[in-house]
Amino acid sequence: MNMRKINCIGILTSGGDAPGMNAAIRAVTRGAIANGFRVMAIYRGYEGLINNEIQEFTTENVSNIIQRGGTILKTARSKDFMTPEGRQRAYDNMVSAGIDALVVIGGNGSLAGARIFAQEFDVPCIGLPGTIDNDLNGTDLTIGYDTTLNTIMECVDKIRDTATSHERIFFIEVMGRDAGFLAQNSAIAAGAEAAIIPEDSTGADQLEHFIGRGIRKSKSSSIVIVSESPKCGAMYYAERVKKEYPEYDVRVSILGHLQRGGSPSAGDRILASRLGVGAIQALLEGQRNVMIGIRNDEVVYVPFANAIKSDKPIKKELIDVLDTLSI
Ligand code: F6P
Repeated sequence: MNMRKINCIGILTSGGDAPGMNAAIRAVTRGAIANGFRVMAIYRGYEGLINNEIQEFTTENVSNIIQRGGTILKTARSKDFMTPEGRQRAYDNMVSAGIDALVVIGGNGSLAGARIFAQEFDVPCIGLPGTIDNDLNGTDLTIGYDTTLNTIMECVDKIRDTATSHERIFFIEVMGRDAGFLAQNSAIAAGAEAAIIPEDSTGADQLEHFIGRGIRKSKSSSIVIVSESPKCGAMYYAERVKKEYPEYDVRVSILGHLQRGGSPSAGDRILASRLGVGAIQALLEGQRNVMIGIRNDEVVYVPFANAIKSDKPIKKELIDVLDTLSI
């Protein structure tokens, strides 16, 4: 194993942007400089590593960014990095720039990329969970999730005004890729009548379940939060209601990319700051190929292989809470 001394740390953001990524960039940069490392910022994720878009960062480069959404480093989903040739070019540029270790801020695909890169070239890589989806294993929270939950909640509050006035059922589609954390918890936070999530394992028809529980007589409007899905998104359920229950007036609202924008919440800024400093601490301790996570309010190191497993469970208790409160 390559135990070469680390002098210079490269940092990049990759995959879908998430509020709090800038706070994480700031924390990694300042944490690194405070501990005597140089920092190289890589633009446009792995794509920028392949195309040599690298610039040295000082503490000033990360001033005044903790409150900004998006990522000042830009981001990309790099197809080239999926090829051995692309990764070889990335490695060659990394060596030319004098980068000894890499901090990758991103979601599942980005950390999977870091894992392969670390294995192929024996490069110390540290991951930070940066995704609104909250779908990385071994961490209670990912950077961006809390802000997005709040954004969805505010949108649903507004939609409820019109839903109530017109006495309609609204199917509101939210992001999350294959995970229902955003849908389930935004439904609880916004007092929705139901959430339709991919993790539902009852095998029951979730629409039947919702209708069957009774859109209470006294409730003339309802909000159903639906996790995005290529086949069974909000449109699918709305069409079904139109056909199967024509007595209801139905509308659809797909929240889309507004969910990824906005100034990060205090929770996300603090999380990103802790995890960013944790990444530097991990490198100082000789850790490599781990994601820095948070569990029970403690910073933890999660091997990439565990972090990217696609089976992070949603607590049954959350499903029960929504069911209980939406009577
Ligand atoms: O992973 C974050 C995420 O916002 C998912 O929730 C969503 O499915 C996807 O990215 C959308 O990606 P894009 O911005 O490339 O359309």
